[in-house]
Amino acid sequence: MEEPNETLRTEHHDIERLLAALGVIAAMIQEGVAFPSKDIGRALAVIACFIDRCHHGKEDNVFFPAVSKASPSSGTELARRLASDHRAFRQLASSMNALLQRAQTEWQARGILAKDIYAYTRLVRLHVRVEEDELFKEVERSIERGERAKITIEFEIEEIGRDAHKNHLETIGSLVKAYIRQAVFLDRSLLAAVCGSSFFSTTFSSTFS
Ligand SMILES: [Fe+2]
Ligand SMILES: [Fe+2]
Repeated sequence: MEEPNETLRTEHHDIERLLAALGVIAAMIQEGVAFPSKDIGRALAVIACFIDRCHHGKEDNVFFPAVSKASPSSGTELARRLASDHRAFRQLASSMNALLQRAQTEWQARGILAKDIYAYTRLVRLHVRVEEDELFKEVERSIERGERAKITIEFEIEEIGRDAHKNHLETIGSLVKAYIRQAVFLDRSLLAAVCGSSFFSTTFSSTFS
């Protein structure tokens, strides 16, 4: 039985690949190179279903309650902070969806959308770091192996269906393939600002591995 930490870590890897593609899209909008509205819509659909419903569903409804129960002090505090992040991400995604409609005709909305995409990618990366560096350790420390196996089984309730899950991963793969290649044509200092300073050292190597 796979450890629940490993299930979530695998999904984080897929999420980070989507964030890398979104970072390039944000840079392209900021540089005025292109406004790929269809692909932004595809990325937002992955955020709504794969990230918010499937991944955050597992955390909000199964993982956080389990760690809060096992570790009433530090576990509960961590889970509260991280659940609050999820609500903020949901609001940001809703704002990006509304902006995408306006950005079809309004240049100003495109600039705000690029900034929202940048904020989303930066905040989700930080959130993932806290989960992997602090929450996963708390789970290993406070929940014994048999109970952790039950969490993995309960994750299945939050799954969106094998085909839907696979389709979202394929969408992420195609966005990564399309946009990471575009990155070489963009201004490097802008990309570093939009995608994070470690973009070139980590994203390229992990994306093409
Ligand atoms: Fe989370
Ligand atoms: Fe997570």
